[in-house]
Amino acid sequence: MSNLLVTGGAGFIGANFVHYWLRKYPDDRVVVLDALTYAGNQASLAAVSQEPAFRFVHGDICDARLVTDLLQQEQIDTIVHFAAESHVDRSISGPGAFIQTNIVGTYTLLEAARGQWLGDSAPASHRFHHVSTDEVYGSLNLDDPAFSETTAYAPSSPYSASKASSDHLVRAYNHTYGLQVSTSNCSNNYGPYQFPEKLIPLMIVNALAGEALPVYGDGSNIRDWLHVEDHVRGIDLVVREGSVGETYNIGGNEEHANLDIVRTLCACIDDLFENNDELLKRFPNAPASSGKPAESLITMVQDRPGHDWRYAIDASRMRDELGFEPSYNFETGLRSTIDWMLANEDWWRAILDESYRDWIDNNYSKR
Ligand code: NAD
Ligand code: DAU
Repeated sequence: MSNLLVTGGAGFIGANFVHYWLRKYPDDRVVVLDALTYAGNQASLAAVSQEPAFRFVHGDICDARLVTDLLQQEQIDTIVHFAAESHVDRSISGPGAFIQTNIVGTYTLLEAARGQWLGDSAPASHRFHHVSTDEVYGSLNLDDPAFSETTAYAPSSPYSASKASSDHLVRAYNHTYGLQVSTSNCSNNYGPYQFPEKLIPLMIVNALAGEALPVYGDGSNIRDWLHVEDHVRGIDLVVREGSVGETYNIGGNEEHANLDIVRTLCACIDDLFENNDELLKRFPNAPASSGKPAESLITMVQDRPGHDWRYAIDASRMRDELGFEPSYNFETGLRSTIDWMLANEDWWRAILDESYRDWIDNNYSKR
């Protein structure tokens, strides 16, 4: 039995992880620490909120006192660290929060863990697992080999630079103090509970509302997509079976150009709307209501500054050492994500509030 502290557990991947963990390890205790920024949403944890094994703490990972108290009170032996500012576009318009949470916040957690786990009242074993991104490796050309665990770091946005910095801190605490850490660097995730500022949920919400589908630049940028349920399963393997001090790259072997993704998504939506009176009634502004294809909403907009062109993960270490294979292919994963969004309209409607719409309007009017 373990006592887990899950930072950022009200965010997209953190919430999926909490659901997964409580289902798979019902004897463990899961304490979520989350500051509930614009990206945090307690509604994503509603299904587990009454479980005795679960506790939600509203707070900041930069609050050293709070983190230390939680480690002590809850006898935490495992930290799974998701909390971060995670959106590249926001890191371009306002990098400060990224430096604070992603670097200072990670440092604060490491210091608290060092004090608690390497001191007199240390638990029998401990693990600090850091959830990171493939963006720390920079951008690839078409013929470059995919990122492996030994690829040199070359972050290019304030977001990826802040994550790279946190990765180095995590490894330094292992090397210098002997803290038992692990890191996973994952590719682009999609699936339930993703905030509709990221490519896939944004395109779904806009297509249903009959709004423009903004594709940056020429739409040729490539990402390697992984369904979030596969990612949390991969993290589970690394936390339990991965070697201390090591890094594992997690990816989906699903490289797709952005424009292709948006077109596939539009085709899925057209398919679902065809002769479906219930959907046509629920979403009267969707293009299908006026006999148009969803693709008619695609709008090419100004590129993201410094936009990384291609990411690709070499996931052979996860496969060879931990037996990890993704269970979703992109087509089925995308289709099930659209189904989830249609079945959970209340969840995304509630977060499309005024301030978020303002932010979207401001950003797109600048392009
Ligand atoms: P998210 O933006 O959906 O969620 C982040 C969560 O962290 C939110 O609940 C937010 O309230 C919380 N948070 C932010 N600042 C905090 C602070 N100072 N203290 C406590 N909580 C705070 O992010 P996500 O997409 O779920 O990503 C989770 C982690 O996975 C991040 O570390 C990200 O870098 C990494 N990652 C994400 C992806 C992806 O495709 N989304 C891929 C690889 C790695
Ligand atoms: O690679 C892992 C990373 O993936 C994570 O570390 C980040 O937290 C996560 O946000 C994601 O970063 P990206 O920048 O790749 O994700 P995003 O969904 O913002 O964009 C995906 C691609 O789609 C990217 O090339 C930019 C493009 N895009 C995005 C949006 C929001 C568009 O063309 N139009 C859009 O409206």
